[in-house]
Amino acid sequence: MTSLRPLVAGNWKMNGLKSGLSEAQAVREAVSAAQSTCAADVMIAPPATLLMVMAEACRGGKLSFAGQDCHSKASGAHTGDVSAEMLKEAGASAVIAGHSERRADHAETDAVIRAKAEAAHRAGLAAIVCIGETLGERHAGLTLTVVSRQLKGALPDGATAQNTVVAYEPVWAIGTGLTPSIADVAEVHARIRADLTARFGANGTAMRILYGGSVKPDNAKALLSVANVNGALVGGASLKASDFLAILRAYES
Ligand code: 13P
Repeated sequence: MTSLRPLVAGNWKMNGLKSGLSEAQAVREAVSAAQSTCAADVMIAPPATLLMVMAEACRGGKLSFAGQDCHSKASGAHTGDVSAEMLKEAGASAVIAGHSERRADHAETDAVIRAKAEAAHRAGLAAIVCIGETLGERHAGLTLTVVSRQLKGALPDGATAQNTVVAYEPVWAIGTGLTPSIADVAEVHARIRADLTARFGANGTAMRILYGGSVKPDNAKALLSVANVNGALVGGASLKASDFLAILRAYES
């Protein structure tokens, strides 16, 4: 499915003060300048505190923004939470749901993640739904089982190629500098594609599947060339504009 327009999204996690604005501006300017040569959509998911100011500062450009998480309800007594509607108003066009750090730190289940993805759709945001196995699960030969189970549980029935992106992020590859072999990435993405097509038909065939976990300038081209890898969800390397832009160059014609 290399014909799908790829998406490269930078997940800043709990990083970024106002000084991060200049990194976003640098990405915005480079993305605008490379419009004719860069064949990917580019997105940044900054911390919620920076979302609105960044979206406003980059208004009119090709760079889009995402929240990192949302509550399933639109409003109410949920201290500390942010709704999908609030993210939308702040300038987001998408929200990440079910990142493994949310699953681990906040005990988020597939059912909770599915409700968050439904909330994203209700608010008019795309949901970037994350799945991925732990190292123990991989060693036990359970990778494909886990990925299929998470996909089934976390994706809402209303998922379409427009409103949903799947991100495969092996938990053991996040922030470690380790990545699966190219053959392993190909195997998992092929399984995800098969599951998506079986459940969603043409929408499943056209849904973007991102790879995430230690994507860096020196491995981006190899990882992003794998069949059914339609872009990347980048953590650490998205914090520095020069590294993030080097990853984007994997899609330069
Ligand atoms: P790293 O790129 O830092 O491994 O993080 C990946 C990630 O978790 C993106 O959501």
